[in-house]
Amino acid sequence: MNAPVGQGISGRPTHVTAERFFGQSIIVTGAAQGIGLAVAHRIAYEDGNLVLVDRSELVHDVAEQLRGVGKGTVDSVTADLETYEGAQQSIDFARTKFKNLDIVINNVGGTIWAKPFEEYTEEEITKEIQRSLFPTLWMCRATLPCLIKNGGGTIVNVSSIATGGVNRVPYAAAKGGVNGIVSALAHEAAHHNVRVVATAPGGTLAPERKVKRGPGPEGEKQQQWYQEIVDQTISSSHMRRYATLEEQAAPICFLASEEASYITGSVLPVGGGDQG
Ligand SMILES: NC(=O)c1ccc[n+]([C@@H]2O[C@H](COP(=O)([O-])OP(=O)(O)OC[C@H]3O[C@@H](n4cnc5c(N)ncnc54)[C@H](O)[C@@H]3O)[C@@H](O)[C@H]2O)c1
Repeated sequence: MNAPVGQGISGRPTHVTAERFFGQSIIVTGAAQGIGLAVAHRIAYEDGNLVLVDRSELVHDVAEQLRGVGKGTVDSVTADLETYEGAQQSIDFARTKFKNLDIVINNVGGTIWAKPFEEYTEEEITKEIQRSLFPTLWMCRATLPCLIKNGGGTIVNVSSIATGGVNRVPYAAAKGGVNGIVSALAHEAAHHNVRVVATAPGGTLAPERKVKRGPGPEGEKQQQWYQEIVDQTISSSHMRRYATLEEQAAPICFLASEEASYITGSVLPVGGGDQG
């Protein structure tokens, strides 16, 4: 899907809390571009040890760029997180790199089609759920035994304010599922010292996607449906604008860090006032 275009991520982040993630081992999924890349970038500068996961080979280039910017290690692996096998492979890879796993940031997802619900086919609905619910569900399941064994840890999921948006009901259903994972798993896993939280980003500016989410809006009608999403996103935001990638990475990193040690079960809307 085409989105309003913004700046990419390069150089030192605007805000850096030195050593915030020093000695911590962190997985970031969907790290080849967009919000996942921005999160990986900030954590690398804040000295965390990273394993970056993505379906795209571009993730290896990102790891190469981030290696050496901080005091941590940066490794990468390709996996398809729409499958449990892909999630388990990612965890198995991370265990070869890390002594302990501390933090998992489940960022894979994104609307594939923009249209009124009655226009979606059964196949499209299935694909939206596979893209935006299963990667988080499988990663939480594959991760949890490691965190429990290690005596605790943190899972940060990336949801969306689109749970209250137009022209993407299947995606909203998937992200509503992500929110359900947060509240239920946070409750269940708290006694293992595991925190489970999420941010719900609003519309976010990024450079044109190297890895496309889908076919994009092809005809005039599809363009119009997509434009309705953009217009609704801006009008629902008190600030009447899209976020930058850094504005999305910052709250994800905060929730992942020990500064957020008394926050669990929460989904933080990051939509310039849009609560989703
Ligand atoms: N960009 C926004 O405006 C926005 C708004 C609200 C919520 N979000 C959410 O934020 C997250 C990141 O969004 P983005 O726009 O940066 O995403 P993006 O589409 O730009 O990038 C997603 C990354 O995930 C990878 N990926 C996709 N499917 C995968 C799979 N099955 N296995 C492994 N990797 C896979 C892609 O290769 C890509 O690198 C998503 O969960 C999205 O739903 C984004």
